[in-house]
Amino acid sequence: MKKINCAIIGQGGAGGINYPQRRRDGLIKAVSVGYGILMQNGSSLDVVEKAVEILENTTVFNAGTGSALNLKGEAEMDASIMTNKLGFGAVAAIKNVKNPIKVARLVMEKTDHLLLCAEGAIKFARSMGIKYYNTKTKEKERVWKRKRKNLKSAYFKKLNKLIDLYETVSIVAIDKNGLICVGISTGGITLRLPGRIGDTPIIGTGIYADKNGVVSATGHGEEIMRHMIAFRAVSLMVRYPAQTAGKKVIDYATKNGCKCGLIGIDKKGRILCANNTKSMSWCYIKNGKMELFKY
Ligand code: GLY
Repeated sequence: MKKINCAIIGQGGAGGINYPQRRRDGLIKAVSVGYGILMQNGSSLDVVEKAVEILENTTVFNAGTGSALNLKGEAEMDASIMTNKLGFGAVAAIKNVKNPIKVARLVMEKTDHLLLCAEGAIKFARSMGIKYYNTKTKEKERVWKRKRKNLKSAYFKKLNKLIDLYETVSIVAIDKNGLICVGISTGGITLRLPGRIGDTPIIGTGIYADKNGVVSATGHGEEIMRHMIAFRAVSLMVRYPAQTAGKKVIDYATKNGCKCGLIGIDKKGRILCANNTKSMSWCYIKNGKMELFKY
């Protein structure tokens, strides 16, 4: 059997990069811990869960602790996980859990469903022993108050203008057995309507995986959903290496007004990292060598 080289890539959001050093530190930690597990013959599923948890616990990112707040000032979060063997689990509009990615994995492994949302997702998490945890931070409350001041009328037009930071976190990894896994998590868009669900937990849009490869998208969720961005990129991996497939989808996205970034890995372990936004924070390790976004 052909030897498979392990690899891991993570991203911490597209759009403007505020606090770049904090983002670098968080990504380096998540990707290094994940690569360490891969080197000890760990499964990419465990790697992805652990590395996404690290990003969710790093408050600069918009996921887990430090998630963006909705119009009511609540932190409703979306997350999902998928493997190249079509395993999938997701939670949407879930509140008061520390690590939504953990609950998404539990949905995949402990239920016959793919996606649980809102109260149902919270009840399921509690039944699995996941305790109450408040993910709001003072930093994100300040952002919420500042942005809310500008939203006195014409809500939707103004909301669109306020969507300047396209933020999710995600990790993609391939292990020695060729299992490729992707995990993604977000607090969504600041000041969104309560109950709004973005692309992150919707299969084919912000996340997709099949035997040819695995992709996650970050960016403006509504547009990513409209254009099935992750599914498009994975479909092209039948014919093209990961980066070529991703670039083709980014060109398509640009032509159709969809601002997004993509990370992924194809079945040969080749990496995808591309975006059409102002910037994207990312980090990967392949063949023991780390590459990191510049700012
Ligand atoms: N891409 C994340 C969101 O729009 O919720």
